[in-house]
Amino acid sequence: MTDQTATSSSDGQSLTVRDNRTGQDYELPIVDGTIRGSDLAKIKAGDDGPALAVFDPGFINTASCRSAITYIDGDQGVLEYRGYPIEQLAEKSNYLEVAYLLVHGELPNKEQSDTWVHEITYHTFVHENVKTFMQGFRYDAHPMGMLLASVGALSTFYPESSNITDAGNRHMQIVRLIAKMPTLGAWAFRHAQGKPYVYPDNDLGYAANFLAMLFRMSEQRFEADERLIRALEVLFILHADHEQNCSTNAVRSVGSSQVDPYSAMTAGIAALYGPLHGGANEAVLRMLRRIGSIDKVPEFIEGVKAGKERLMGFGHRVYKNYDPRAKIIKQAAEDVFAVTGVNPLLKIAVELEKIALEDEYFVKRRLYPNVDFYSGLIYEALSFPPEMFTVLFAIPRTSGWLAQWLELVDDSDQKIARPKQIYTGPRKLDYVSCQERGG
Ligand code: CMC
Repeated sequence: MTDQTATSSSDGQSLTVRDNRTGQDYELPIVDGTIRGSDLAKIKAGDDGPALAVFDPGFINTASCRSAITYIDGDQGVLEYRGYPIEQLAEKSNYLEVAYLLVHGELPNKEQSDTWVHEITYHTFVHENVKTFMQGFRYDAHPMGMLLASVGALSTFYPESSNITDAGNRHMQIVRLIAKMPTLGAWAFRHAQGKPYVYPDNDLGYAANFLAMLFRMSEQRFEADERLIRALEVLFILHADHEQNCSTNAVRSVGSSQVDPYSAMTAGIAALYGPLHGGANEAVLRMLRRIGSIDKVPEFIEGVKAGKERLMGFGHRVYKNYDPRAKIIKQAAEDVFAVTGVNPLLKIAVELEKIALEDEYFVKRRLYPNVDFYSGLIYEALSFPPEMFTVLFAIPRTSGWLAQWLELVDDSDQKIARPKQIYTGPRKLDYVSCQERGG
C-alpha cells in the first residue's frame, strides 16, 4: 500500500493499493474520507478468486451510512444535533423541539412547533387492548422487556404502518411512537409496583405528563416540581440521539428490510437493553452499591485493572475525552439533588472518577466518564428503581431512532443490511445417520 492516508472529501483524491499476491496496483477513490467496500471488492487474487473484504467486527472503522443528523468529535468531546451544540440545546431548548429538529432537520417555527406539540399530545393514549396486553406480564417483569414487547405489539394495532413508502403514513407513525413511549414506559413502571396505570394528562407538557403517569395516586392532578421537570427534559435532550451506536445500528439494520417502524424500533429497544449500551447506568448503580463505601474504592479499581470487571459508566467507543453529556448531567444532578437531597452513592462515584482520571490504566486507554456514570444517580434520586433506567433512555432515544430510520428509508444508497463473514467451519462432510454415529 503506497498511501494510507484517507483525508476528508475532495474530488480526485484516491488511495493506491498494491496487491502483493499479484503485483497489481489499484486506485481507489477516496470520498468523504472513506473508500467504498465495493471498490475494494474489485481486488481479487485471480479472476475467480474471492473479492477482498474488510474484517471489522463491531464496525470499528466501517461507515454504514451517510447521515446529516448527529455529529460527534470523540477526541474533542463534541456532540451536535443537526449542527446545534448539545450544550445550547440542553440549556435553551426542550425535548419535543429537539425531537422535531432531529426528525425534520431544522428547528420549527412557532406554527410548526404548535402543530407538532399538538400532534404528539393528541396521540399519547394507547388502545385499551395494549393495556390488557401489558397487564398480562408477570408481576416482576423487567420494564424494558415490557416496553420492548409493547412497542412491537403496536405494529399490530397500526397495520398501515407497513406502508413505509408513504410520507404521510410515516409521519403518523413517528408522531404515534414519540407520543406513546412515555405512556408505555410509565405503565411498565406502575405494573411492577402493582399500581393502577395512569392515563395521560394532555394538559401537561411531555416530561410533566410522564412524571404524572409515573407517580400520580389519588390527587386530581399531579404537579411535579418544575426543577425536576426541567432536569428530565435535559436528560431527554441529552439522550435523544447519538449517531450510529449499537441500538441505532439495530434500527437501521432491521429497518433496511423495509419492515414497519414499530418493529424496527423494537430492535433498537432490544439493543439498548444490553449492559454495554443503555443498561450501563443500571450497572453503574449496582456497582456503586456493591462498592458500598469510599474506602473500598481503591480495592475495586485494582480489580478493574486486573481485568476482573469493568468500571461501568467509563469508556466509550467514540469519546476518547470527557463525554460532553456527562458534564451537563453532572449539573443536572446538582439541580435534582437540590430538590431531593443528595444521593449518598454520589460520594463513591466522585471518588471513583477522581482516582480513575489520575490512574495510568484509565489515562492510557483514554477512559473517561460517559453519559451513564451520573445519570443513574439522578434517576435514583427521582425514585426510579434501576430497572427503569434504560426505559428512561429509550423514551427520548425514540426520536433519534426515528430520525435515523427516516433518513435510511429516504436514502437511495441503502440496501438490506447483510455483512460478509469469514467462514471457519468444516466443509463437504458426508452425512452419517444417527444409528451409525454410535454413542
Ligand atoms: N473499565 C475498564 N477497562 C475498560 C473499560 C472500562 N469501563 N472500557 C474499556 N476498557 C479497556 C478494555 O479492557 C481495553 O483494554 P485492553 O486494551 O487492555 O484490552 C480497552 O479499554 C479498550 O476497550 P474496548 O472494549 O476495546 O473498547 P470498546 O470501544 O469496544 O468499548 C465500551 C466501549 C463502552 C463498551 C466500554 O468502554 C465499556 O464496556 N464500558 C463500560 C460500559 C459502559 O459504561 N457503557 C456505556 C457506554 S455510553 C452509553 C451508550 O452510548 O450506550
